[in-house]
Amino acid sequence: MITTLHRPLPRTLVLVGLMGAGKTAVGKRVAARLGLGFTDADHEIETAAGCTIPDIFERYGEPAFRDLERRVIARLVQGPVQVLSTGGGAFMDPQTRVQIAEHGLSVWLKAELGVLVARTAKRSNRPLLRQGSPREVLAQLMERRHPVYALADMTVESRDGPVEDTVDRVLAAVDAHLAAAAASDETALGHAPTGQAD
Ligand code: S3P
Repeated sequence: MITTLHRPLPRTLVLVGLMGAGKTAVGKRVAARLGLGFTDADHEIETAAGCTIPDIFERYGEPAFRDLERRVIARLVQGPVQVLSTGGGAFMDPQTRVQIAEHGLSVWLKAELGVLVARTAKRSNRPLLRQGSPREVLAQLMERRHPVYALADMTVESRDGPVEDTVDRVLAAVDAHLAAAAASDETALGHAPTGQAD
């Protein structure tokens, strides 16, 4: 089990991916292992709006939800370093992607359709999945969203099985990403990547 990183996390770690990918479950545990705070953007949106996400969709419509989502995430990524889980549509917004690219480090939690269907069936709080058969809706969203999620800084498989295994894979990916970034900074500065320039 990975309990820490070799380098401190310099920016907020932002988990992106489809509904049921495990962003909240994994995010909470990643934050606990790193001793950092955790925020669920959907939860913050509900607090800001004073009502649930299904209510926001029903009363004000999806565009109003997206607008609030964009503003809440921009505020959160610019705050103290933490772990942030985002709703499945958040990373599809170009302005939100710019905010995350400028202030955060993004991880796409990638899961197979069957895993997403099984996990999302446990709760009925997702308005988009009420618009048809959840399997068909998720399959369409996968087609549309996967090429955009692939723009994230890292991609980690979220498999069926113990959530701690996915947490380990996230921490390993972040560690490798930070090591690669440090090495390329050293190279850009004209130092040997080991820091032992001769
Ligand atoms: C949505 C995903 C939901 C929530 C809203 C819309 C989406 O979050 O933000 O229902 O567009 O995929 P989760 O991915 O946390 O379920």
